Amino acid sequence: MRTKELWNEGWSFSKDSGFADAEQVSLPHCFNSTDGQDGGNDYFRGTGYYRKEFTRPVLDGDEIWVEFRSVAMVSTVTLNGVELGRHTGGYSTFRFELTPHLQDNNVLVVTANNEYSETYYPQKADFTFYGGIYRDVWLLGVPKEHFQLDHFGGEGFKVTPVVSKDLSSCEVKMEAWISSGTVTFSLQGEEKTAEVRDGKAETSFVIPNPHLWNGKKDPFLYEATAVSSSGDEVSTRFGCRRYEIDPERGFILNNKEYRLAGVSKHQDRWAKGNAVSKEDLKEDMDIVLELGVNTLRLAHYQHDQYFYDLCDEKGIIVWAEIPYITAHMKDGRENTLSQMQELIVQNYNHPSIIVWGLSNEITTQGGVTKDLEENHKLLNVLAHKLDPTRLTTMAHVFILKTKEPIARLTDVSAWNLYYGWYVGDLPQNEKFLDKYHKKYPKAPIGLSEYGADANIQYQTAEPIKGDYTEAYQCLYHEHILEMWSKRPYLWTIYAWNLFDFGADARNEGGKKGQNQKGLVTIDRKTRKDAFYIYKAYFSDEPFVHLCGKRYEKRVEAETELKVYSNQKEVTLYVDGKPVETQKGERIFRFNFELAGSHEIEVRSGELADSMTVQKVEEKPAEYQSETMMVHNWFDVEVKKGYFSLKDAPIRIKRSKEGKAVLDKYYYPMIHGMTERYGDVSSGVKIPKITYTILDFVPLEKLFRMLGSMISLETVEGLGKELPKIRK
Ligand code: GCU
Repeated sequence: MRTKELWNEGWSFSKDSGFADAEQVSLPHCFNSTDGQDGGNDYFRGTGYYRKEFTRPVLDGDEIWVEFRSVAMVSTVTLNGVELGRHTGGYSTFRFELTPHLQDNNVLVVTANNEYSETYYPQKADFTFYGGIYRDVWLLGVPKEHFQLDHFGGEGFKVTPVVSKDLSSCEVKMEAWISSGTVTFSLQGEEKTAEVRDGKAETSFVIPNPHLWNGKKDPFLYEATAVSSSGDEVSTRFGCRRYEIDPERGFILNNKEYRLAGVSKHQDRWAKGNAVSKEDLKEDMDIVLELGVNTLRLAHYQHDQYFYDLCDEKGIIVWAEIPYITAHMKDGRENTLSQMQELIVQNYNHPSIIVWGLSNEITTQGGVTKDLEENHKLLNVLAHKLDPTRLTTMAHVFILKTKEPIARLTDVSAWNLYYGWYVGDLPQNEKFLDKYHKKYPKAPIGLSEYGADANIQYQTAEPIKGDYTEAYQCLYHEHILEMWSKRPYLWTIYAWNLFDFGADARNEGGKKGQNQKGLVTIDRKTRKDAFYIYKAYFSDEPFVHLCGKRYEKRVEAETELKVYSNQKEVTLYVDGKPVETQKGERIFRFNFELAGSHEIEVRSGELADSMTVQKVEEKPAEYQSETMMVHNWFDVEVKKGYFSLKDAPIRIKRSKEGKAVLDKYYYPMIHGMTERYGDVSSGVKIPKITYTILDFVPLEKLFRMLGSMISLETVEGLGKELPKIRK
């Protein structure tokens, strides 16, 4: 018989090994829940010490084990001064046996270290590497002969359902690892007992006319159980489905096309860091279901088991991945392999997972090297060996040349494109994808990231790239969804990101310590307007949403009232009177003469949404970042035949004087910029290609983009000097 007890209470925490000034804490606990989200890239990266004093456990079982659902990032566990073991990797389950060292009174000490390292991932990325015992801890009582507990953190029970091509039957292979005896497997009341041979027992069942796991439409789950002759018992849910990814038709589930469109998600939350609760994760899933999408990229690491379970239950297709990210480290290979093995061994039975992601933008620093390629080949082989039933994928950075073989090393691949935000303009996204697909028609391609930051305080009637307004974020997502709807070859798209998240190195768009590309704020309290264009495309729940509620004070005389809805007809009411009815799809735009203050309401049948708008003379300062004001402040002086901020460096530096002015005011700032980007770029030798790309961006556009990263003297200096230089 297996017994378990949640062990989250009665811990003490200190940043001192001697537990000076220790505080009493409950798990989950994160020691960067505040400093990891307040900006400055100065959050504590060191060792957190946790201690639990306890008497001899009274759990049934010959053996007592402790199970950590995850400790970030490197952990050493000692019991009564004896080191039980060490685990590297901040996102996966691991266990140690306590039995041999138990006394009547015991002290368990667990360290959690998130210091910089060259041997494990993540080290350079655009999110906070929170430290702590931030998921549940369990005490387990098991018989001496028990299912494997210390093999890459798995449960020792693997179920492989294979659905026939015609969907008429499903063969279900079951394997369980235990040292001796017999194992009785059961499924739907049918039982089969198998001898243990070489540490494993296996059997298989056939389900005629299986009830398929069919995505959001019908995510049916079966339950399988394994009971050992020694009395240990494990169970797991699984789903019967078959899928493929076709370079022309995209994702196919149970022989039918099933177009994937979704969002990425980190696991952290405001004021909690990664120490979120089951209720928090349940709320996150409710928001995913409200959005209406059918797939999630659970970035950039292994997520909580409970969340993968929710995806199984709700029929949400999942891209799972390890944190092999941004900068390849020659001494990090072992850790990528162990994190990948843990990810697969611990999550193999989830029907929602369809791809294993090997890495994210890993060529950003240092490009493609032999060692990096070799590391990926080993990961690809390992993933296929551990799981021949799933596909592998990678998320490539936009500066990776598409001709690089690594772009097609995995079964499928996808690209992180931010044209229209970091560089270039929106149509370059589909230009890139169409060109790639034309050049590599047999290589399935997806869009693994795209997005724009939006601070819900920033409002405007003239959205432009880099202004951090909700309005620009809406235009961005409208464009991508429109182009996705016309390209069935895209096997998936993932908006970056569903939620704003902690990135302590960031300081832009008027907010420190956060990446604001979320469709929802980090505290889950505010759904930004862009959230509703996804609902308009994907949700069946009838709604009308009036955009711009936070844009109450408007300077323009004629203003646009934009409505997102999944209804076909919307009527505008102003001050209670019907003004105009429009028939259409998803996006409805009404223009309206603004004079004074007005109650605005939009209706569709019983559905309604409303707001107040009022005409003002001056744009409220709080509607835009001070740096945008700076940029609006400098009128870009353009004298015919002379340079100005509207020109790109590539053009300006053709003139000796122009180059001199750039060398004085521009290049030192751009090259110095990496230091201000913290982890994601500190030490990242920005490849020449990026500078080359930046050279083609008109200075004014780039300054809007970089916002507060650009100093005033740079803007003033160039703004004054350039118009003196003849083209
Ligand atoms: C990258 C990266 C993300 C990051 C995002 C951004 O593509 O994969 O982790 O947050 O861009 O810059 O917002």
